[in-house]
Amino acid sequence: FSAPYPPYDPLDKSGFSYDTVIRRWPIIITSIIDELHNACHFLVLESQALDDSASDKKALLDEKVKEGNEVVAKISKLKYEMARDRVMDEIEDDGEGNRDVYNQELAKLGEDNRNTWFTAPWLFAECYLYRLLRSYFAVTKQWNNYDPFHSSKLKTFKQSGASIYKIATTIHDLEKRKGELIANPSKLQILFTEMVQMCLWGNATDLSLLTHMTEEDIKNLQTTVWEHLKGLKNARVDFVLDNAGFELFTDLVFADFLVTYTPHVSSVVFHPKLIPWFVSDVLPVDFTETLSVLSDPSNFPEADSSPESLEHLKSMVNRWKSYVETGVFKLSVPLDTPLGGGGEKGKKANFWTTPYPYWDMETLDPELVKYLKESGLVIFKGDLNYRKLTGDIKWPAWTPFDEALGPLAGAFPLLSLRTNKADVAVGVPKDVVEKLDADEESEKWRVDGR
Ligand code: F6P
Ligand code: MG
Repeated sequence: FSAPYPPYDPLDKSGFSYDTVIRRWPIIITSIIDELHNACHFLVLESQALDDSASDKKALLDEKVKEGNEVVAKISKLKYEMARDRVMDEIEDDGEGNRDVYNQELAKLGEDNRNTWFTAPWLFAECYLYRLLRSYFAVTKQWNNYDPFHSSKLKTFKQSGASIYKIATTIHDLEKRKGELIANPSKLQILFTEMVQMCLWGNATDLSLLTHMTEEDIKNLQTTVWEHLKGLKNARVDFVLDNAGFELFTDLVFADFLVTYTPHVSSVVFHPKLIPWFVSDVLPVDFTETLSVLSDPSNFPEADSSPESLEHLKSMVNRWKSYVETGVFKLSVPLDTPLGGGGEKGKKANFWTTPYPYWDMETLDPELVKYLKESGLVIFKGDLNYRKLTGDIKWPAWTPFDEALGPLAGAFPLLSLRTNKADVAVGVPKDVVEKLDADEESEKWRVDGR
């Protein structure tokens, strides 16, 4: 599919993509270098503390430090070259998925002299960056399963205790009203509306943003999707996941609500990524870890919790665990899929870390589309999924969503829940767009996440 407008790229210095290349990526890259330096420092101390009787272990530790330093060197070089707008390197042969896809696209961009960091389309360059970083780790022996963003994901999650307890208590209160809700679809609809809100703003990681929405916005947002959902019975819902931590928590709450409180949905499939992706995205290991982190209150030391709220959280998470055990909740790949996908094992999730817009999904991954066609509703979470759904194209913002989806429109029922963190936007009435752009207070509406 070829869109009638060009994609966003950093050649336009007023766009968010320029800001990303010049400022945001270097920060992310530097944070990985810091993380690795730290890890290596502790490995050196560990090795020094060993006596001669542990020579095998020592050799392994020393090798790990050596490999860690090699990765640091590669990342430092990358940072240097990025700042100087150098040509993007081919991804080396690390035996993992999508390498050819990236290298072929890179070669095509080269033909147009657009294979450098400040000239390539933003969507491609950003996806390529995470795949390239993965290759640095994938070719090592001892950092092969290392996620440089793991500690930051976990740390942020542990700061969300207050909202987690609050939501758990809300869900507990529902348990008492289950019969009443099922008997009364209009009450269920109101609740559904609130659940969508909660799940949407989980993408902003700031629940206070909820106050920015007017009643009218909320109504417009939900009517269509509820009308659709109401017609389903015991359907499967798919979540194309975005971020780990609090956002994944809100996805699980929403999924739980759909399965436990409505007759419309009886199973949920969650689609994770297989490589560390856009810093915060969910990997299979994050999914499992989320359930265990939630099961231990000592992970949320800063949150005020009452004995009741602890109990509420526990009973909700136990229900989720039983859903995972019985297959009501599933990942699209086995729970123990290693980073990189482990060959065949992770095959069903490879598409999500390609650089492609979703409009050609049917041609690029027919198996995946076949699978999604069996779904009652596919929920795409977050900003990057939205960029891929719309191709990250400079659509006039009043372009209908259907049109921006290209050939994907109508392939399966889909809902996109996204707080705006990139320039692309569609489906907004023209007068609203003009007002937002003109008003100084709202002119950053496309990227400020509100
Ligand atoms: O903040 C911008 C950004 O890095 C975009 O490049 C990307 O689309 C987005 O964040 C990722 O956000 P999300 O986790 O919501 O997909
Ligand atoms: Mg993300």
